[in-house]
Amino acid sequence: MQEAIILVGGKGTRLRPLTNHTPKPLLGVAGSSFIRHQIAKLMDAGVEHVVFATSYLAGLFEDEFKDFSQNLEISYAVEEVPLGTGGAIRNAARLLRGGSADAPVLVLNGDILSGLDLREVLERHRARDADVTLHLTRVADPRAFGLVPTDGSGRVLSFLEKPKTAEECVTDQINAGCYVFRRSVLDAIPADREVSVEQETFPQLVAEGSRVFGHTTDDYWRDLGTPLAFVHGSADLVTGRATSPLVAQPAEALIHPTATVDPTARVTGGSTVGPRAVIGPRVVVDRSIVAADVTVDEGALIHDSVVDHDSAIGSGTVLRETVVGCHAHIGADNELPPQLRLSCGIRIPAQGVRVSGSAVACPSVH
Ligand code: GTP
Repeated sequence: MQEAIILVGGKGTRLRPLTNHTPKPLLGVAGSSFIRHQIAKLMDAGVEHVVFATSYLAGLFEDEFKDFSQNLEISYAVEEVPLGTGGAIRNAARLLRGGSADAPVLVLNGDILSGLDLREVLERHRARDADVTLHLTRVADPRAFGLVPTDGSGRVLSFLEKPKTAEECVTDQINAGCYVFRRSVLDAIPADREVSVEQETFPQLVAEGSRVFGHTTDDYWRDLGTPLAFVHGSADLVTGRATSPLVAQPAEALIHPTATVDPTARVTGGSTVGPRAVIGPRVVVDRSIVAADVTVDEGALIHDSVVDHDSAIGSGTVLRETVVGCHAHIGADNELPPQLRLSCGIRIPAQGVRVSGSAVACPSVH
């Protein structure tokens, strides 16, 4: 039986306020929660049992899957206190059904969208008789990442901290957040404290001479941990740049059948419009996520942004790279500076904020 662990216990702080009430893996991308895309991909690869390593808002995962009736067993390993990535894997391993000490166990971060062929990485792991196989991806600018150099056979040489100088950029390969562990290696991770696989387990295994290999691919890869990456990942799934068994065919936009979109509005770039949302005349929604029960009034422009459920965007308002929490009310004719995060329930009056020089006349009597 092929088994997998998905790490879903993080607080997702970089995605607040979206993650205030919803764990990152349960946020909607391309019409389904992200974890459902991952589950579908695991099932396609022949996985029959998955353990969710939960902690933050753990009960919501059980709610999400309480009616799940497909051919996959789901277990929940709940951490009262977050154990870090390594501790979480070790804790989740308690619930694996078994198999031999050599059985390969897939481990996925709960926030990575990738085109990796899971069957292929499992095959490579077996063929190399590896203790651990890590999916590695190449990045254009390695300075923001810990680096994972490998030798000609793919064996991992070391785990390097973020490089500070050009000379320290010895490779463009980084840890892509998907691993295959030999079961006995996984069971040897300490169970009684917080452990990071990246900072502790992997470097230690390499230092001990264990068989740690990289599986480097040039497939699509995106860490959905930041707002812009999150919204772009969703758009990529809709347009077909990234694939998921849950997205039947590429489209310019994914509009829920219960949403209302005025015929003069343009919804483009892989945007999604959620249930019962109302998009008014001449609105532009580009490469964005408009969640359930949101209203967007005439002429508003929404680019590279997420508007969470039950919020309202007034007419003529402009959002760029903005995250709007749930139940927010942004009045008409606001032009918000890019990369703002608006808290859940916030109210901005009409004409309250403008970036460009066209501020409205002072309404007070002097
Ligand atoms: P940020 O707070 O925005 O950094 O997000 P995060 O909490 O998700 O952290 P990060 O992106 O580094 O986590 C990578 C993956 O590991 C995500 O899928 C997390 O859910 C998961 N994760 C991180 N820490 C823990 C933990 O202590 N326990 C469990 N079960 N999962 C974790």
